[in-house]
Amino acid sequence: MTTTRSFFLPEHIERYILDTTLRDNPVMRDLREETARHPRAGMQTGADQVQFLQLLVRLIGARRCIEVGVFTGYSALGVALALPDDGTIVACDVSEEYTSIARRYWERAGVAEKIDLYLAPATDTLDRLIHSGGAGWYDFAYIDADKSNYDAYYERLLVLLRHNGIIAIDNVLWSGDVADPSVDDPDTSALRALNAKIGRDERVDASLLSVGDGLMIVRKREVR
Ligand SMILES: C[S@@+](CC[C@H](N)C(=O)[O-])C[C@H]1O[C@@H](n2cnc3c(N)ncnc32)[C@H](O)[C@@H]1O
Repeated sequence: MTTTRSFFLPEHIERYILDTTLRDNPVMRDLREETARHPRAGMQTGADQVQFLQLLVRLIGARRCIEVGVFTGYSALGVALALPDDGTIVACDVSEEYTSIARRYWERAGVAEKIDLYLAPATDTLDRLIHSGGAGWYDFAYIDADKSNYDAYYERLLVLLRHNGIIAIDNVLWSGDVADPSVDDPDTSALRALNAKIGRDERVDASLLSVGDGLMIVRKREVR
């Protein structure tokens, strides 16, 4: 059975959504099952959310993607499966331990060739992409890593994205803590500040969805 991940939906509604609409794949299912036994299992993106990322990738015809925060590789696997044969993902993480699991499943699904894994702080990797001429080159990005750096990732990804490209940002509701003024730990404050900034950012169109733990969808506007 697929683990439910939504903080804001009653479990039986999320179960209904998964049972009714999840387009599953045996490798993705096996990775969910292995990750469910991992001590940090809660970090994995929900199956319905990854399916939504796949839909976004297909809707915009994405070919070049960036993922910030890989863990055991579930969201990268889903995005890779949704890409055309010549599609690529730059995958950023700092953990050899977590991503060694990811690599096994990417191999099994036949998408390992599409994914370039960089084991380094993601700000360094994104800076390298910018300095090596990657500005405006990418179609789609997914941010799902350390919350205090989300704004740094957002700014770099806006440079790297083409116009009409999309950034999806996970955990932006942070179990609802962003809406509770009495909570002011560094992660909550960083997410709250980023949501407020994106809410009035003229460079983008954006929509905050109550999917999972809150998913912000950002489209980079054309410059007029
Ligand atoms: C929430 S998990 C990612 C989940 C993944 N998207 C999935 O669907 O399974 C966050 C990941 O961010 C990574 N991370 C934390 N700090 C990082 C940093 N400074 N740069 C790159 N990755 C980082 C962690 O090692 C962890 O694997």
